[in-house]
Amino acid sequence: MLNSLISRRRLIASGTLASASVALSKFAFGASMQDTSAQSPADAKAMPGVVPAYLGSSPQTLPPLPYADNALEPVISARTIGFHYGKHHRAYFDNLHKLLAGTPLAQASLEQVIMHSHDQPALADVFNNAAQAWNHNFYWNSLSPVTTQPSEKLQAAIVRKFGSTEALTKALVTTSASQFGSGWGWLVLDQGELAVIKTSNAETPFTRGLAPLLTVDVWEHAYYLDYQNRRPDYLVATVSQHLNWAFASANLDRV
Ligand SMILES: [Fe+2]
Repeated sequence: MLNSLISRRRLIASGTLASASVALSKFAFGASMQDTSAQSPADAKAMPGVVPAYLGSSPQTLPPLPYADNALEPVISARTIGFHYGKHHRAYFDNLHKLLAGTPLAQASLEQVIMHSHDQPALADVFNNAAQAWNHNFYWNSLSPVTTQPSEKLQAAIVRKFGSTEALTKALVTTSASQFGSGWGWLVLDQGELAVIKTSNAETPFTRGLAPLLTVDVWEHAYYLDYQNRRPDYLVATVSQHLNWAFASANLDRV
């Protein structure tokens, strides 16, 4: 609570985003994109706090699931999605609303909140809830109930870096399974090259200049009801059957 009070006072005092122009879109990487020619992921490294233009802007509102809660069965059950989306994801937005009420960040995009609060110890609660809200927006769209294929551009990049899609998915499973404790596995674009990385807790790649293309959630709440301690089984099934390559392809085109 004390940390939250400090965070709110600090935000109210700063006022740095009070005049920020906020264009809201449906999702992270949504339709309301800004000019993508002005800023690359690498530029973000040099400008801390600035939202990479390719991200667009996401409202501080829980978006609808892009499919029914049973659409990923039997790999991910409706019960898991019910708790994961309906309780965990919703709670990150609810917490964020409480933390930011009456502050200049209350009307900012999720991306603005994340970039503003990253690496700010007094704003750790704000960052954690905003980043988890964004990561989950991205996660639901990283999965698909139907089979999808990478675009020619993404396929060429996969072959160039990993040799094959099979090798890439194996790397994603291995890297994600090895995350110690809670976190995320990602396919990202790093300086124009694909890379598989993992992040801890709420950390998200774009704060360090990496453009996210796909993610898999390895917090226990993502799989424990269905797989208990068998995280690798959840990852193998999810990555092999439900990754949304069309979403990854569209994200690659925007960077
Ligand atoms: Fe999660």
